[in-house]
Amino acid sequence: MRGRIVAGNWKMNKTFEEAEDLLYEIAESLTEEDLEKATVVICPPSPYLEMAHDVAKENGFYTGAQNMSNKESGAFTGEISAAMISSVGAAFVIVGHSERRAYFGETDELLCEKVEIALKNNLVPVFCCGERLEERNAGAHFAVVKKQVQTALFNLGDEDFSKVVIAYEPVWAIGTGVNATPEQAQEMHNFIRNLVAEKFGKKMAEEKIILYGGSCNATNASALFAQPDVDGGLIGGASLKASEFLGIIRGFDK
Ligand code: 13P
Repeated sequence: MRGRIVAGNWKMNKTFEEAEDLLYEIAESLTEEDLEKATVVICPPSPYLEMAHDVAKENGFYTGAQNMSNKESGAFTGEISAAMISSVGAAFVIVGHSERRAYFGETDELLCEKVEIALKNNLVPVFCCGERLEERNAGAHFAVVKKQVQTALFNLGDEDFSKVVIAYEPVWAIGTGVNATPEQAQEMHNFIRNLVAEKFGKKMAEEKIILYGGSCNATNASALFAQPDVDGGLIGGASLKASEFLGIIRGFDK
């Protein structure tokens, strides 16, 4: 069976103390059974990565950054490199979140560089793709996602590509309370898996972890995760409350 992941993207929320409290609450609630269902990842704001890793490593979960630079090091004031993220224990990094694309002008060409640098520094890139509402309404959603995935990821060699996690996050579902229906998620995940199969072969496609993100919560997670091509979730708002986040992990029936 391919891997399953539930990752919490805390975005720009929580003070240090609040973050610490939430991490301990999650750590105390997580059972062996939860950790068997999925790999659990918390992506806090970067200043808390080291503290989060200290809690995570004692409790069977992992940490990730929400973003990183496309440069290795040097005079890039305010940027955070893959090596820095890796050096504070993080194993994952979110790349190309739609908020980065929309507010910080990130393009798939830039994301292609970020993915390569992440891999070089032993970070697992969680590459986000997904269409905007007007694109879905125009029937362009498959074409949009295809271009994002192909431009940012299909230049990778087999070994590198095998390490990448893909997250389908339709922009219209993020923070809106309107999740993709399980059928809509399944349709797109299956489309992405087929793209992977065409480029990298059937085995790679079968093993590729594809997460769903966008208004996923403890109530709708089980129907989404029951879809054959949905391998877990990238969770925003609902990852900020331990009980809700745990409820999502428990959305896997076994
Ligand atoms: P919400 O779960 O708040 O809709 O956010 C999803 C997301 O953007 C995760 O990266």
